Amino acid sequence: MTLRIEAVADRPQQQEEEGGGFNDARRLVEGWYWALRSRELPRGRVRAVSLAGRELVLYRGQDGTARALDAHCAHMGAHLATGRVEGDTLRCFFHRWRYDGAGHCVEVPSLGGCPLTTARVRAWPVAERYGLIWVWAGERPTAPVPAPPELAGVPVQARLGRPFTKGCHPHVVLVNAIDEQHFNSVHRLPVTLCMEPRALSSACLEVRNVAPVRRDSWLGRRLALLYAGPLTYAMTYSHGSVGTVTLGPDRLHMHLMFALRPTADGRTEGQAIALTRRRPGVAGALVDRLLLAATALVGRYFARGDTIVFDTIRFDLQTPIAADRAVLAFMRHLGGQPTLGWADGAR
Ligand code: FES
Ligand SMILES: [Fe+2]
Repeated sequence: MTLRIEAVADRPQQQEEEGGGFNDARRLVEGWYWALRSRELPRGRVRAVSLAGRELVLYRGQDGTARALDAHCAHMGAHLATGRVEGDTLRCFFHRWRYDGAGHCVEVPSLGGCPLTTARVRAWPVAERYGLIWVWAGERPTAPVPAPPELAGVPVQARLGRPFTKGCHPHVVLVNAIDEQHFNSVHRLPVTLCMEPRALSSACLEVRNVAPVRRDSWLGRRLALLYAGPLTYAMTYSHGSVGTVTLGPDRLHMHLMFALRPTADGRTEGQAIALTRRRPGVAGALVDRLLLAATALVGRYFARGDTIVFDTIRFDLQTPIAADRAVLAFMRHLGGQPTLGWADGAR
């Protein structure tokens, strides 16, 4: 087969032209980032979290709500994780100043217990979903915590995998899932994929296989029986921090979410989440459990094969070909999203 190389003209000028959001350890694309497992933050506890190189504290008040603040006290910079939760507020260990969930200083003991309106630590929006605590990097959320499009608005069951690390930026990890060529070269799958990108919103890109199942082999003909149209393999990307793959036969779609965040030096800390629609009754719960276990297995299979690439790659798409068009679309889509100077503690 002759490779078509007309896409070379589309080579992105990564940092300048694309807005600098893609694969840039110095900037963080605005969006939801996983911070902690919900069960790691019981009521009345505070935890230090380094999120994408920025030091935060997460605490859960007596009302059960998780909150996120910048880690260092507005008085003299003590780390607030050394303090303690009081009611729904957090008290600094050092001189006992007390902050509410919005980061306002509501009590200074040495000022007779008065609040100090000039003292404030930055607070970040928080959500809890799928057994994780998520922090919105940005002023206020412009979208809910992502869900697979097929599960939007319906009750879901989630199963968390073990947290994992990869040796490259999350955006490069996400590129992998829409890299048509590597499904054959790395994963040795006997299928041909043609990934078609489509923006669902300014922060959400869907990339879906549109190639029909090949029927030129015994396996292909059996596989084709499971699909009325193209083989289902669809990725949905949100904020460059969450990728959700939907795959499986028409009658039994599996959904696997990858929540990713960069480290200060541009590696990935990730969390895989198997998701399914919650089915009613005892039998439904059993089906849910089996399906989630199978989904987690599929995720592990794919993650293993790519590790050698993730740990050694210096991503630079110098020579794109037609088969890389979904990757280019992802890079452009991310480049158009707002970014923050985050890791350096910018306000
Ligand atoms: S450093 Fe926190 S109260 Fe002084
Ligand atoms: Fe892969």
